[in-house]
Amino acid sequence: MSSRILVLISGSGSNLQAIIDASLVSGYPGEVVGVISNKADAYGLTRASNANITNLALSHKDFDCRESYDQALMTEIDKFSPDVVVLAGFMRILTPAFVQHYQGKLLNIHPSLLPKYQGLNTHQRAIDAGDKEHGVSVHFVTEELDGGPVILQAKVPVFDGDTSDDLAERVHEQEHRIYPLVVKWLCQKRLTMLKDAEQEQAILDGKILSVSGYANDE
Ligand code: GAR
Repeated sequence: MSSRILVLISGSGSNLQAIIDASLVSGYPGEVVGVISNKADAYGLTRASNANITNLALSHKDFDCRESYDQALMTEIDKFSPDVVVLAGFMRILTPAFVQHYQGKLLNIHPSLLPKYQGLNTHQRAIDAGDKEHGVSVHFVTEELDGGPVILQAKVPVFDGDTSDDLAERVHEQEHRIYPLVVKWLCQKRLTMLKDAEQEQAILDGKILSVSGYANDE
């Protein structure tokens, strides 16, 4: 049976598009059943409409605190009965209650080789640090911001003279390759998150993944 995928966005939604496109290929084990944005003008909502996917905006500005927004967001999300909840450029810090509610089925994509460069401006920070390689990580979401177990990373080179925009474009290309793949693994239930008192770990096909996720070359 096809898994139900709910995607949260704040902006352009190019990763959403990559997941929609992948899901339309015969045999993909999931279907994007809904898209929610915290910004009404997010282009990703147009992408959802173009694909005939139910979508809505729920603005955080209509709520007086993070907790009440996240509660309302959970209510909206749960109407879709999702098996998988995908953060695709959803630029909000989530409350512990939200993260716990979707534990093990909440994925994020972050534009750095985690644990490097948690937070914002990752491309510029990689350039400023003189890094020769940069990249993107898909990880399970836990209560630590950009800190959950990594599932898959993709690397890109940093060339002399690169601007932040050059690097963002190179990273985006990789994002669109790896995110649909990881979403697929979660839909297939090949991927799970193990949580005990000390830590969380990502498990793929019964094997604990390393700190860099599956494609570890250390
Ligand atoms: C992506 O580059 C994603 O990695 C980043 O936002 C962009 C969204 O692009 N996410 C974060 O920075 C989360 N901390 P998109 O709207 O075109 O998919």
